[in-house]
Amino acid sequence: MAKRSIIITGGAGFIGSHVVRLFVNKYPEYNIINVDKLTYAGNLANLADVADKPNYRFVKMDICDFEGVLRLMQEERVDGVIHLAAESHVDRSIAEPFTFAQTNVMGTLSLLQAAKVCWESCAEGYSGKRFYHISTDEVYGALEFDNTLFTEQTSYNPHSPYSASKASSDHFVRAYHDTYGMPTIVTNCSNNYGPNQFPEKLIPLFISNIRQQKSLPVYGKGENVRDWLYVEDHARAIDTIFHNGRVAQTYNIGGSNEWRNIDLIKVIIKVVDRHLGNAEGHSLGLIEYVTDRLGHDARYAIDSSKLRNELGWEPSVQFEEGLDRTVRWYLENGAWLEDIISGNYQRRNNEYLEENKR
Ligand code: NAD
Ligand code: DAU
Repeated sequence: MAKRSIIITGGAGFIGSHVVRLFVNKYPEYNIINVDKLTYAGNLANLADVADKPNYRFVKMDICDFEGVLRLMQEERVDGVIHLAAESHVDRSIAEPFTFAQTNVMGTLSLLQAAKVCWESCAEGYSGKRFYHISTDEVYGALEFDNTLFTEQTSYNPHSPYSASKASSDHFVRAYHDTYGMPTIVTNCSNNYGPNQFPEKLIPLFISNIRQQKSLPVYGKGENVRDWLYVEDHARAIDTIFHNGRVAQTYNIGGSNEWRNIDLIKVIIKVVDRHLGNAEGHSLGLIEYVTDRLGHDARYAIDSSKLRNELGWEPSVQFEEGLDRTVRWYLENGAWLEDIISGNYQRRNNEYLEENKR
């Protein structure tokens, strides 16, 4: 497929920055446009290494700005959208659900409608076009502590405002295929970890807190289970599916790598202590059991056999290796963490925008 001009939304965030880097470096002939509002989760330092590449452009824009998005799509003759922009943190969705409905539901609808208007008005119509929506396994709800897995046939049963908003956006994407014939794809992925993840999520928060010898808040009894995938493996899956996935299909993406939170936390402590030169077990005393998250989903686990069998994707980074790389990255990039903790990264975002005004 000769895709030439692709909008990647949410490219200044965690997963989006890895997807942008992969596409900009792997496809120099593509025009990659990173559309991001730069909320608290957007950090242009995540993309410092590709910022000056000739096939990359950053546009600060809210995906809810339908007119702006439509203009940009027409201007850039966009033929592909890879949509990652979202409010992504479950705890924030419990505290401020409106932002989640606005960005995740209305923002996705705004992008879909802009793509529809843009593509329906060009000579080739939907031919050669693709709207790829990145979603989460959380839309399926929660599993028991058994051997069951989420498949592409599992019914939606979201519990948090975050997962409810993502479920709603998935339905809108499928509706645009079924109603207007837009060539859409949806993928539902398990928990990602790796460099550049905002330190509010479990793994980076705990690495950052151990580094500062601050307490480690374990929700409830720490018995909840998550299926962890290294972020670069997710980005590779997105590349494979964008190019070779079948239109109107859903693909589950997962690490087949389930960990009970408390077991994972003990491994994180061990690896961070080792890298900091602390005695084994030094930071175990930082663990603090705190009030559970409201509506805390017990277990997520993904069956990604459709993607593996149909498109030959496999996770390539073993968990021990991925966690070690991740811990090293955060410890070696203390300035990145410090800038977030102090809020300085937002000033740097503004400086970048000022310097690149045109
Ligand atoms: P993130 O919070 O790190 O980044 C989100 C990005 O979207 C930020 O750069 C932010 O500035 C941008 N954004 C937010 N609202 C916007 C708006 N209205 N307009 C334009 N840009 C906006 O998120 P992430 O963890 O990288 O997740 C990316 C996507 O992947 C999300 O759609 C999420 O639901 C999905 N996902 C995440 C995981 C995970 O483990 N992190 C797993 C599966 C799926
Ligand atoms: O499953 C995919 C989802 O994974 C993505 O769609 C979300 O965007 C992403 O944030 C993530 O959601 P989780 O809620 O699973 O991730 P989080 O890192 O917030 O929490 C992981 C587990 O750790 C969860 O069971 C809650 C627990 N936890 C989390 C934090 C932040 C704690 O015990 N203490 C904490 O301080």
